[in-house]
Amino acid sequence: MVSDAVEIFEVGPRDGLQNEARDVPTDEKVALVDALSASGFRRIEVGSFVSPRWVPRMADSGDVFAAIRRAPGVRYAALTPNMKGYAAARAAGADEVAIFASASEGFSKANLNATIEESLTRFAPVAEAARADGVPVRGYVSCVVECPYDGAVDPADTARVAAALRDMGCYEISLGDTIGRGAPEAVDAMLAAVLDEIPAGRLAGHFHDTGGRALANVDVSLARGLRVFDAAVGGLGGCPYAPGAAGNVATEALLAHLEAAGYRTGLDTDAVARAAGLARAIRSAP
Ligand code: HMG
Ligand code: MG
Repeated sequence: MVSDAVEIFEVGPRDGLQNEARDVPTDEKVALVDALSASGFRRIEVGSFVSPRWVPRMADSGDVFAAIRRAPGVRYAALTPNMKGYAAARAAGADEVAIFASASEGFSKANLNATIEESLTRFAPVAEAARADGVPVRGYVSCVVECPYDGAVDPADTARVAAALRDMGCYEISLGDTIGRGAPEAVDAMLAAVLDEIPAGRLAGHFHDTGGRALANVDVSLARGLRVFDAAVGGLGGCPYAPGAAGNVATEALLAHLEAAGYRTGLDTDAVARAAGLARAIRSAP
């Protein structure tokens, strides 16, 4: 039987806040994570340990990790582009880490200052160290259908990078429509190629809502068997290296959409609404 349980992986504190124009104070980030911890999420991406020159908004991720109240049963995650980031994430007590590659060369260069192959080479020791330390590693593939620099992406390229991350030991691969330009037909064709390599149970959908098609892309992914989706409360988000990338699909909108379709998420709708209110206040503060 096809599962009716869907997990929303909350990425707002990281993917959402990394791109805010305002320098959001650490205590506001901590309050957001704490509100999310009370909402029933099993995984929350708290921050990233990347170069502060590249993404200044995440420079205080260690302080955020130190100040949050950890809820039992919740895994608090961080992005780690290299060994320096991995060491910092471990020191901060991240429960899991993520390495993040791109299906397109243009975005890889802009986001990581590396070709796809160079970035994979850089991730390998992170994945190895995490395996030795017993730390779960998640993999992201960005620009799975469209790249702001290179245009349409060949599904075979996305499948190849996803398979490389799987081979490094990523327990789950999150497929990112980074700029939210993906049409459902293109997402479906991309999924068909990736599913030839990796079963749906090890994939997640990560849809930005720039083009207003994130929920349609979730539906296409559900039909393909995916049951994990990344989302950000309040629709926070974007990526500093993906011009025009608007917010991630809003967690509260995705939750309502999934529940209307009969899926169970295990989330507390009122608590999610409170966290979304906090996220919107963070965004609209002067
Ligand atoms: P680089 O400049 O080529 O690296 O950047 P480098 O090794 O030459 O280092 C330059 C400086 O950064 C050095 O400092 C390093 O120490 C420092 P200096 O000696 O000059 O003072 N540095 C670091 N500092 C802190 N933590 C680190 C770290 N690494 C180096 N981990 C690098 C290469 C990968 C570091 C850089 O390009 C980078 O940090 N990129 C990250 C960009 C990023 O975070 N983008 C957003 C996340 S991805 C995303 O949003 C997509 C996603 O949501 C999915 C989707 O939507 O598709 C995941
Ligand atoms: Mg993203």
